[in-house]
Amino acid sequence: MDTRPIGVFDSGIGGLTVVKEIMRILPYEDIVYFGDTARVPYGSKSQETITKFAKQNSRFLLSKDVKAIVIACNTASALALDELNSEFDVPIIGVIKPGANAAVRATKTGRIGIIGTEGTVNSRAYERAIRKLFKEVEIFSLPCPLFVPLVEEGWAEKEVSYMIAKDYLEPFKKFEIDTLVLGCTHYPILTNVIGKIMGEDVTLINPAEETAIELKSILFENGLQNTSKRKPEYTYYVSDNPDKFKKVGGNFLNREIENITKIDIEKF
Ligand code: DGL
Repeated sequence: MDTRPIGVFDSGIGGLTVVKEIMRILPYEDIVYFGDTARVPYGSKSQETITKFAKQNSRFLLSKDVKAIVIACNTASALALDELNSEFDVPIIGVIKPGANAAVRATKTGRIGIIGTEGTVNSRAYERAIRKLFKEVEIFSLPCPLFVPLVEEGWAEKEVSYMIAKDYLEPFKKFEIDTLVLGCTHYPILTNVIGKIMGEDVTLINPAEETAIELKSILFENGLQNTSKRKPEYTYYVSDNPDKFKKVGGNFLNREIENITKIDIEKF
C-alpha cells in the first residue's frame, strides 16, 4: 500500500489521453501531471534535446514525491525511456511497449501500420518493440505531423481534419494493414476520422489503455498500489499557458481541470 501519487508527463496537453485511461483503470490513485507546454512540440526535436527535457520533467515529478512515472509522450518514450530508467530509481514506463503488445495481439494478417510524429517514426522504436514479439511481421510507418496542431486547435471533428487525414492515409492503404497503431498522444482524438478513412477492417490501437493496464500490474508487483479507496487528487503543472491547457485539456479529459500551476521547468 502506497498513497504517493503517480507522475505523468507529456510534451503538452496530449498526454491527458493517457491520464484519462489511468483514471479509469486505477480510480483510487492520485496523479500529478506535467505538460511541457512551453517546449512543445517534441515530435520534431533531436534525441539529445528530448532526453534533456525528459530528465528535467522526471526530476520535477520526483520533487512531488511520485512513486512511479509514466511517459505519456510517444516521442519521449521512443527517445528517452532507457536513459530515464538508468538514471532514476522509481518504476518508469513509456507507451511504446504497451502499444506494441496491443498491436501484436490485434493483428491477424501480421501487417501493422504505425503513425506518429517524425521523432517516433524515425526512431523505429515501435518497430523494434513489435518485432521482439512477432518476428515475421510486416511494418509500415508514416509520420502525420499536421495531426497534432489540428487536435490542439480543437478541430478534430472539422472537415479540414478529414481532408488532411485522407491525404496522409489514402496512399498508405495500399499496404493492406489490418492494424494501425495511433502512435502519438493526440491521434486517439482523431479516431473517428482515421477510422472512417482506414475502414472497418483495420483495428485502431490506442496505446494509452494498454499503458494504464501495464502501470496497474507494475504497481501491484511492487506493492505500490493505493488501496485506500478514497477520492483521488489530480494536480496539473505546465511550463506555459495554463489557461489554454485548462480549456483544451478539459475537452481531452471530458472533465474540468482544476489545481493547475505554471512552473519553471528549466530549474530542474
Ligand atoms: N506528445 C507527442 C507524442 O506523443 C506529440 C506532440 C509533440 O510533438 O510534442 O509524440
